Amino acid sequence: MQKNRVPPLSIPALLVAAFLGPLAAPPAMAAGLVLKSVKVALPEGNLTFPGGKAADAINANCVTCHSAGMVLTQPNMPKAAWDMEVHKMINAFRAPIDPAAVQPIIDYLAGLKAPQ
Ligand code: HEC
Repeated sequence: MQKNRVPPLSIPALLVAAFLGPLAAPPAMAAGLVLKSVKVALPEGNLTFPGGKAADAINANCVTCHSAGMVLTQPNMPKAAWDMEVHKMINAFRAPIDPAAVQPIIDYLAGLKAPQ
C-alpha cells in the first residue's frame, strides 16, 4: 500500500485555484502597492455662505457636515424658526457649534433673503 500519497486535485478545485490565485496576493506584494491620484470634476455648489464678515460665524460652524447650499435653498423663515433649526443641529445632530456663534448664526439666517 502506498504511503504519503497526495490525492489528485479535482478539476473544480483547480479551476477555483486558477481563478482566485491572482486575487489572493501575498502580503509581501501589498507593501509594493502604488496608489494613484484621480482628478474628479465635481459640480460647483454653494460651499460657503456669502456676506463677508457677517457670515463668519455660520461659515465657521455650519459647513462641516453639509454645504451652505443645503441651508441657502431652504425657504425664508422667521427668526424663531431658524432658532429652532440651529438648535436641532446642535441637539439632534450633535453639531459642535461654538455657543458664542449661535446668536450671530440665527441673526444671519433670519436676515437671509434666499434666492427663490
Ligand atoms: C454635525 C453635523 C451638522 C452640522 C455641524 C450642521 N448640520 Fe445641518 N444638518 C445635519 C444633518 C444630518 C441634516 C439632515 C440631512 C438630511 O436630512 O439629509 C442637516 C440638515 C440641515 C438643514 C435642512 C433642514 C433640516 O432640518 O433637515 C438645514 C437648514 C441645516 N442643516 C442648517 C444647519 C445650520 C444653520 C448649521 C450651523 C448652525 C448646521 N446645519 C450644522 C447635520 C449638521
